[in-house]
Amino acid sequence: MRKIILTFILVLASGFVLYCSYVCVKNINTIGSESEVKGKEMSSDEYIYKEDLLHLGYNLNDIEVIQNKISNVDVKEYFLKEKYDNISSYINALNFIPKNISRYVAYHNRNQNMTYDNTVLNVNMNLDYDFYTNVNTLHNYLDITTLVNKYNKLPDNYEIDDLVVLDNEYSNKGEKVRKVIYNDLKKMFDDAKKDNINLNVISGFRTYEKQDTLFNNSIKKNGIDHALIYSAKPGYSEHQLGLAIDINSVEENFKNTNEYKWLKNNSYKYGFIERYPENKEYITGFGYEPWHYRYLGVDITTRIFTENITYEEYVVKFLK
Ligand code: DAL
Ligand code: ZN
Repeated sequence: MRKIILTFILVLASGFVLYCSYVCVKNINTIGSESEVKGKEMSSDEYIYKEDLLHLGYNLNDIEVIQNKISNVDVKEYFLKEKYDNISSYINALNFIPKNISRYVAYHNRNQNMTYDNTVLNVNMNLDYDFYTNVNTLHNYLDITTLVNKYNKLPDNYEIDDLVVLDNEYSNKGEKVRKVIYNDLKKMFDDAKKDNINLNVISGFRTYEKQDTLFNNSIKKNGIDHALIYSAKPGYSEHQLGLAIDINSVEENFKNTNEYKWLKNNSYKYGFIERYPENKEYITGFGYEPWHYRYLGVDITTRIFTENITYEEYVVKFLK
């Protein structure tokens, strides 16, 4: 009888121990999820966005990329409205900017063979917008690096007060440029002369009114389509900055001259670049102008020359 009672107690004790172990293990397993639930109740931003992103249909890989590379503020602002296909490809592209995500997606849908890097680059240059739309008015127009183009215009009342008239040997028309570029311009023209290359500025600084006249004359002479490709609307010409010059001739055959060849190979050494190169019209908005040079300083023009890019690309890749 005693033996039976002892066995009974032993069975009870073992059962109790087993039960305790079960409860203990169960508690350990639920600690994580309970604290996650607590986290949710505590409104951890990250946790909420993860739930929202899952809800939108993103997989865990995409969510990891989003959360590793995009700040919570940007996730909240730009990524919670709709699900974008191939989101990681955009985020991992060079020069990705979170606020542009919906534009990247729309642009890529219209250009499906384009790489994601180029999609991002082009949208960052505003190429998803038509020229002369979504225009930004510049206030930093005295900076040497100011980008003026069909998306960036000068304010109507802009003023440039450090203009100098070029000596006759640099411009037989008495054109003006900003003083800050004159030394480098002289050096370029003087060095060119040593190589038997004669350079002459035929157009430098232009006022708003002058640009307006040129644009309207171009329409009368060649029609609006031609004018839009070769002449900037007033407010949109970098000649108005006093940092751009047309050299020798605005005829297309200037490209066949030794002067052009010299400029193409050397102008960057003096801080000038060919601003509207061949086949880059879709970026610059202007046709090939072998005569038009923009001053940006030697560091920038050297980079532009070695990378063989336009100033628009330089700004997006290296200045923003
Ligand atoms: N021809 C250039 C684009 C200008 O008008 O500024
Ligand atoms: Zn020009």
